[in-house]
Amino acid sequence: MSKYDDLFDEVTADESLFREKGVLDPLAEPDEIHARDAQERELASLLAGVHEGYLPPTVTIYGPPGTGKTLSTRRVCREFASRTDAVAVEYVNLKECRTLFSAANEILFELTGEKKGAYEGLDGVFEGIWEALAEYPEWTVLILDEIDHVQHDSNYDPSDFFYRLLRGEGKLKRGVDLSVWLVSNELLEVDLRLDSRVESAMSDEAVFFPPYGPDELAAVLEPRLERAFREGTVPEEVRDYGVAEAARRWGDARKALTLFRQAGETATERGLDQLTRECLETNLEATEREATVSKLLDLPTNHFLVLTAVTGWDQGGEIKQPVTTADVHSILEGETFPEALQLGERAVRGVLTDLETMGLVETWIDSRGREGRVKQIETTFEPQWVRDNRLRYVEESTYLGADTED
Ligand SMILES: Nc1ncnc2c1ncn2[C@@H]1O[C@H](COP(=O)(O)OP(=O)(O)OP(=O)(O)O)[C@@H](O)[C@H]1O
Ligand SMILES: [Mg+2]
Repeated sequence: MSKYDDLFDEVTADESLFREKGVLDPLAEPDEIHARDAQERELASLLAGVHEGYLPPTVTIYGPPGTGKTLSTRRVCREFASRTDAVAVEYVNLKECRTLFSAANEILFELTGEKKGAYEGLDGVFEGIWEALAEYPEWTVLILDEIDHVQHDSNYDPSDFFYRLLRGEGKLKRGVDLSVWLVSNELLEVDLRLDSRVESAMSDEAVFFPPYGPDELAAVLEPRLERAFREGTVPEEVRDYGVAEAARRWGDARKALTLFRQAGETATERGLDQLTRECLETNLEATEREATVSKLLDLPTNHFLVLTAVTGWDQGGEIKQPVTTADVHSILEGETFPEALQLGERAVRGVLTDLETMGLVETWIDSRGREGRVKQIETTFEPQWVRDNRLRYVEESTYLGADTED
């Protein structure tokens, strides 16, 4: 036996609870979509409009993370297009796009496999999009996923983007019939109302994906758990406990899958032959932390900066919470932050509102006698996680240095 036989033997857990761990990877395409019948039906009815010669110019698909938006939208559209010659579907994820120009270029890339250089400008990119779409079937459904990531960028006017996409002259000239499906965590209309031109071009079709309740989450998870774990290793009551906790805390299928994967790893490490409640309990916080930290690392710079200020006060060796807007300001104006990063009061308030919508902070108003009413701000998660990840943010954030993109 060579030293590698020994090595590989040692690291191969022969007592593993898993049969096929990859099934629990949230990125793995499940065979079937469960518990989203109502949403699939709504999406299908919208698409069926084609048979009567109409698709809404926009559809907003929204709801909290891990509720099956991307999965269901892609699958229903793909299945419909494969049965209907007059319809093409294109899917573009805008998560990495930081500017209007790069978002448009990403769409062009999906359609043609090519991008335009900066010197061609936004007009050039849109021209390319219309030229490409003119060659498409009669109807094109363009799915723009994670569009809210572009929205948080204040360097451009998102209304202008939608206006071009929905009412662009190049589009009208070529008779392109486009239905733009916007997938995001928030209902997007709010910001679009800023521009009356866009509001009139937007229809109000919206499909909401609520968080999963316990029964729905059970329907999503059961077939996956059955394939992922060896027979008899996940007792029913343990499974039900994990599903109930995941539903109560998150309603998020992605987190629920991660929870069971991590719990299975814990059980294997502990040499257990079955998954236990304790294995799940040990990992509830870890799953929460992993999900929150990845959200933190995805934040635009200003948002992360404001969070470092929200978690920037110490009191007796602990992070002080809640804080007031004035506290946040005095930290941001303090010497730890370089001049170039300082934010005005309005900007800070805007960012705090965003953070609240994303579920990262909670705010409420306290009456403080003569001082009047004071807004209190608190993170919805362990504030130390911001501090622990400051360096990682600087190293990993795709927002830093994004100015030079495209
Ligand atoms: N109804 C479902 N049936 C089967 N699997 C599901 C279902 N909903 C979610 N999943 C699983 O969870 C993963 C995450 O779902 P999805 O990517 O669709 O979430 P999302 O709503 O788009 O989240 P986000 O807002 O974070 O983009 C899917 O890849 C799939 O593995
Ligand atoms: Mg998604």
